[in-house]
Amino acid sequence: MTIDEHPVDRTIRERRTSLLVDRDAPVPDDLVDLLIEAATWAPNHKRTWPWRFTVLSGDARGRLGRAMAEAGTELGLDPAKVEKLPTKYERSAVVLLVWVRLDGDDVRRREDRDATAAAVQNLLLTATAHGLGNYWATVPDGLVPSVRAVAGIDDGHDLVALVYLGWPTGSVAVPERPAPAVTRLR
Ligand SMILES: Cc1cc2nc3c(=O)[nH]c(=O)nc-3n(C[C@H](O)[C@H](O)[C@H](O)COP(=O)(O)O)c2cc1C
Repeated sequence: MTIDEHPVDRTIRERRTSLLVDRDAPVPDDLVDLLIEAATWAPNHKRTWPWRFTVLSGDARGRLGRAMAEAGTELGLDPAKVEKLPTKYERSAVVLLVWVRLDGDDVRRREDRDATAAAVQNLLLTATAHGLGNYWATVPDGLVPSVRAVAGIDDGHDLVALVYLGWPTGSVAVPERPAPAVTRLR
């Protein structure tokens, strides 16, 4: 089988974690809505639909960064990192937060997070297919409460991904994929 047989094969391989994007070129709300709708087609055991989304653009990106910087200072985080926070989220036109509702049951909580990670990948692949640059980032645990406060999300939810979205201005190197360990039992 060649990997170019189907468009999905190309999209999966073309998706790149990249912040080489135009911070100002607007990303239409309709397109962001399409990505979010694509996310909801992820497999989801018990059909709990555990995800929530927060879309930040314009001034909201700076509000997020300033709140995180304030929290970072209070927590005594590395000043060099804190200094960057106020403008950090203005590097892409849209910042999308993906949250998962925290179920009281251990197994369900794990499955819901897995489903939400799958939802994020759907979102990234759909962004890639529409020519939109994207980048999945982690927010350090200590800063999540400040993100939650800006987004107005209660502590019954955890942050799974912060996704930068914007129109590409360049391309990044393609990281090698080591061959996976595969065992075939027949
Ligand atoms: C759960 C998760 C968290 C990630 N967090 C970060 C991050 O905080 N910073 C970062 O540079 N990349 C982050 N990444 C992206 C990976 O670094 C990236 O996927 C990896 O380098 C492979 O590159 P590729 O996505 O272009 O194939 C994250 C990816 C995942 C799945």
